[in-house]
Amino acid sequence: MRIDIITLFPELLKSPFEVSILKRAITSGKASVHFHDLRAYSTHKQKQVDDYPFGGGAGMVMMIEPIDRCINTLKKERAYDAVIYLTPDGSTLNQKQANHFSTLENIILLCGHYKGVDQRVRDHLITHELSIGDFVLSGGELAAAVFCDSIIRLIPGVLGDESSALSDSFQDGLLAPPVYTRPAEYNGWKVPEILTSGNTPKVDEWRDEKALERTQKLRPDLLK
Ligand code: ADE
Repeated sequence: MRIDIITLFPELLKSPFEVSILKRAITSGKASVHFHDLRAYSTHKQKQVDDYPFGGGAGMVMMIEPIDRCINTLKKERAYDAVIYLTPDGSTLNQKQANHFSTLENIILLCGHYKGVDQRVRDHLITHELSIGDFVLSGGELAAAVFCDSIIRLIPGVLGDESSALSDSFQDGLLAPPVYTRPAEYNGWKVPEILTSGNTPKVDEWRDEKALERTQKLRPDLLK
């Protein structure tokens, strides 16, 4: 998978890809992530990329021209399966969408800032609009990092234990069951006995029960 991220602040995005699972996915060649500084695509002397909104009002709007130039440059190199704009008014990212996007080959992500992008970008250049939740970030960069993490970890072979992505919360419509590790007793707080019994079918049954119990308690909406 190749992900191209168009941003005004590439430095905001680098570190999430330099540690742990994302780093491993990149060094093993399963994913590649490329940052494109939008200012480099401005034709203005001062590298301007935003301007006042037509009709007045507060805030600046990201101009269509540098975005179009950047996307076109990328599209000349390869075909893209999705051109995604990260925005709080997009459709809220969920596991089902993450599963879908994790199967794509080439993805462009556009990070918004200020009052957002000229609507013509959304109307003509973007294929999907995604939000990571009903709250507003200062820009799309952190949302892009969240999106990338959610999909890269699903690429086959990225997680050491293939089954571990399947047992994530939401994968089967349920929250994940509780997990424990050594010591079996701490401060008098004990691990449920079934987990140390060595009886795998019983452990699986217990986990299914707990997953359901947890979902009923914490996210009953998922069961509807
Ligand atoms: N940009 C600003 N807030 C955002 C959000 N919640 N999701 C995606 N992109 C954003």
